[in-house]
Amino acid sequence: MLYFNNEISCSTMVRPWQLLRFFLFLLGSHFVGWVIAHQETGKWRCESESEIRVLADFRPGLITLDGLADDWKDIDGFEFPLRPALDPDQDHEYSGGKMTVKALHDGHDVFFLLQVDGNYAYTRGESTKCPSVALMFKIGEGASYHNMGGCKEGPDSCTNKTCRGHEVDIMHFSIGTAIPGRLYGGNPIDNGDGNGGDRFGHLVDLYGWNPHCRYPDGVGPTENDTSAQNNWKGSWWHSSISSQSGFVEEDSPYGTGGQRGTYYFEFSRPLRTMDHLQQDAQFTIGGSTQMSIAFWYPVNGNPWHGSGHYTINCDWVPLDLSPGGSLTKSAPSSSHDASSSFALLFSVISLCITVFVVYQMHRLKTKGDPVPQSENDSL
Ligand SMILES: *[C@@H]1O[C@H](CO)[C@@H](O)[C@H](O)[C@H]1NC(C)=O
Repeated sequence: MLYFNNEISCSTMVRPWQLLRFFLFLLGSHFVGWVIAHQETGKWRCESESEIRVLADFRPGLITLDGLADDWKDIDGFEFPLRPALDPDQDHEYSGGKMTVKALHDGHDVFFLLQVDGNYAYTRGESTKCPSVALMFKIGEGASYHNMGGCKEGPDSCTNKTCRGHEVDIMHFSIGTAIPGRLYGGNPIDNGDGNGGDRFGHLVDLYGWNPHCRYPDGVGPTENDTSAQNNWKGSWWHSSISSQSGFVEEDSPYGTGGQRGTYYFEFSRPLRTMDHLQQDAQFTIGGSTQMSIAFWYPVNGNPWHGSGHYTINCDWVPLDLSPGGSLTKSAPSSSHDASSSFALLFSVISLCITVFVVYQMHRLKTKGDPVPQSENDSL
């Protein structure tokens, strides 16, 4: 029997309310450590630890989307082993190490930082010879992690009707045409065409029902709807790249091939979008969204294939968006004291009035109704 020991750990400080949440979770989970997520016949098997998740706190005004990670240093990270998506065996784990995932929101946008060690690999214009990442989110109620939504229809028969309920939202960033530190994703030209494409940096907004039925937002197997938009923005960086002054395309490959270091991928998206085709996940403050993250790397310089990617878990990982209230400080103590003194005074006055009213009513009652209480009781 295979156990996929998916681990999660906070790389930095754990806040007290997170601990509380964890204990509440333990109470609710009946201490069941392993959850069998897929009960399919055949080879696929996933046993995912149930407490793994990514938390996005409310931290406005902190993040610049420049591919650099300095502004994330005080944010808790969650570490995940990267295992082949199609065969999540520990023996075939990505040898460069775990992926650290950080997330936050500012009340309007949700932000992600993906951080993974890897020797510098970059070949201009050839995405499969550069690292690449994707985020996937559950949209439809019946959308499974396995098989990207899990609709049983093939490419000839999958439609928004035959695959209804299996929708997943995907953001894919292939950096082969993207300059480090620059912003890609939604741009006026592609959004003007009304689809999820990005002709400049290939940071595209997609949706899918299974691996064979994937399309840019707005594009469909039978018809297009030009109301769609690419709602994502993002940037990348590698720690071996030294220039801070910015690059032009001719500076490619921007760094020295094979240099040890860490890749950074940074993304943002508005919490809500205008999508009316079930092609975007919608995020809610205080709510939870199921997500997954994929990573492609040209191992030993060999170009990667679409299905040859690593993922952070063999099932969905919950992404929780904390409300801003959890960070609200209590009022300054002086005004706090004043208001509680007033509250106490108010309570005492209320009590006196109540006693007085009850006494008066009792008096009225004994005057107007002279029958003793005990006789009433005997009736
Ligand atoms: C939809 O858009 C795609 C990409 O722009 C295009 O290739 C395809 O021909 C369009 N389909 C229809 C039915 O217009």
